[in-house]
Amino acid sequence: MPAPAFPPGPRGYPIIGVLPQLRSDPIRTFLDAADRYGTVAYLKAGPYHGFLLSNPADIKHVLQDNARNYHKSPLYERLKDGIGNGLLTSEDSFWLRQRRLAQPAFHRQRLVTMAEAMVSCTEQKLERWDRAASSGEIIDLVAEMMALTQAIIVRTMFSTDLGATAEVVNRTWPIINRRIGETFWSTKLETTLPLPANRRMRNALHELETVVYRIIADRRQTRRDEPDLLSMFLSARDDETGTGMTDRQLRDEVMTMLLAGHETTSLALSWTYYLLSQHPEVEQGIADEVDRVIGGGRPGFAHVEQLPHVRQAIEESLRLYPPAWGFSRLSLGEDEIGGYQVPKGSIVFVIPFMVHRRPNLWPDPERFDPDRFTPEHESVRPRFAYIPFGGGPRGCIGSQFAMVEAQLIVAAIAQRYRIELVPGQQIRPEPLITLRPSPGIRARLRRRPH
Ligand code: HEM
Repeated sequence: MPAPAFPPGPRGYPIIGVLPQLRSDPIRTFLDAADRYGTVAYLKAGPYHGFLLSNPADIKHVLQDNARNYHKSPLYERLKDGIGNGLLTSEDSFWLRQRRLAQPAFHRQRLVTMAEAMVSCTEQKLERWDRAASSGEIIDLVAEMMALTQAIIVRTMFSTDLGATAEVVNRTWPIINRRIGETFWSTKLETTLPLPANRRMRNALHELETVVYRIIADRRQTRRDEPDLLSMFLSARDDETGTGMTDRQLRDEVMTMLLAGHETTSLALSWTYYLLSQHPEVEQGIADEVDRVIGGGRPGFAHVEQLPHVRQAIEESLRLYPPAWGFSRLSLGEDEIGGYQVPKGSIVFVIPFMVHRRPNLWPDPERFDPDRFTPEHESVRPRFAYIPFGGGPRGCIGSQFAMVEAQLIVAAIAQRYRIELVPGQQIRPEPLITLRPSPGIRARLRRRPH
């Protein structure tokens, strides 16, 4: 039988293929491959056949229509080393059970209550910003947003304030995140070598885990029944055996929510301000809208639907700088995508950063234009052309949570401050697990006149 014809793609090296390029500049490698080789491009990644998709119909096929044929790819292994076998990384019946358990925590009714916590955490943060606004002090915007979304996820998911443990999360999380990002394309062996970076990662993980186990033990002991995710996981019983989740399973779910529930949203906000600083007219439009809809009152869930300018600016920022910039799947059996045979055991790459910049889907793709998200424009776009939250059964469970949170934060900030970036900064997107503004964003707060 003739060998199957793979789609066109960059040649790469013998055996390792384009792995060096993917390690050193994954975004450029994916953008170039999509530009040069069409809607399905072949990228050999070490031992794997790799298929890069840029046609929304093909992406829908993999994420939704034929989702059963796919698991998360081996690239999630390093993530698993950190957050274990939780909702983001588990598969099949175990995943489905956990997803069903978690789902009620994200229902609309719960969102209304959680919006309250989102606003109160934001108010606390803005109080602290007051001094920086008076003195003209420079703030590290990414760190500020990270701390805010961390406080929110802990409050809404676990009904607790981090208190003294906030310092541990703040300190350990960046170490863990960076190391997972750096070793994304590495083998397990490389992460177990006695290197200082590996040691730092292990220590940070241990420290963070200790905090997480403490939150779990505290709840088990006090038997407080809060209407939050932790209670749902704690009260869950296996249909057949009647047993509950072990501490280890709980630890994995808590670590997953801690990671997935704050990092991405904080980056979405940071990129939004990066873009708004270059588009003062959009920023002013947001301020006017917030003024009209909320005035000097307290933002709340009821306002969210009345703030289309705020929502569209965030959506456009998620298009240009999707925090989950790329994800991937492993084919469990053979498949056919875009007319090509995809052998069992192949990696399929879905790269929002690239898909969101295809000129056939997004005219003048580099331009920041929130109007792309007006209902008229949205109605004519293929659903899988815009995938900041993935799609199909493994799509983001927290997408509405994140949008409500981001809108309320932007609205609350707009009531009081304008965020002005320190001029002359060179900021570029750094693709770790998530897409970070590197080396950070330095900004000043300007008080808005009332
Ligand atoms: C702007 C913010 C966010 C972005 C861009 C984002 C993006 C994503 C993406 C792309 C996926 C799919 C990954 C894949 O297919 O491999 C995902 C899954 C997930 N996200 Fe989010 N997310 C955000 C906020 C949140 C929040 C706030 C939570 C929790 C409160 C959350 C929890 C999760 C979980 C648990 C999964 C795994 C779902 C499953 O496989 O069943 N995310 N997210």
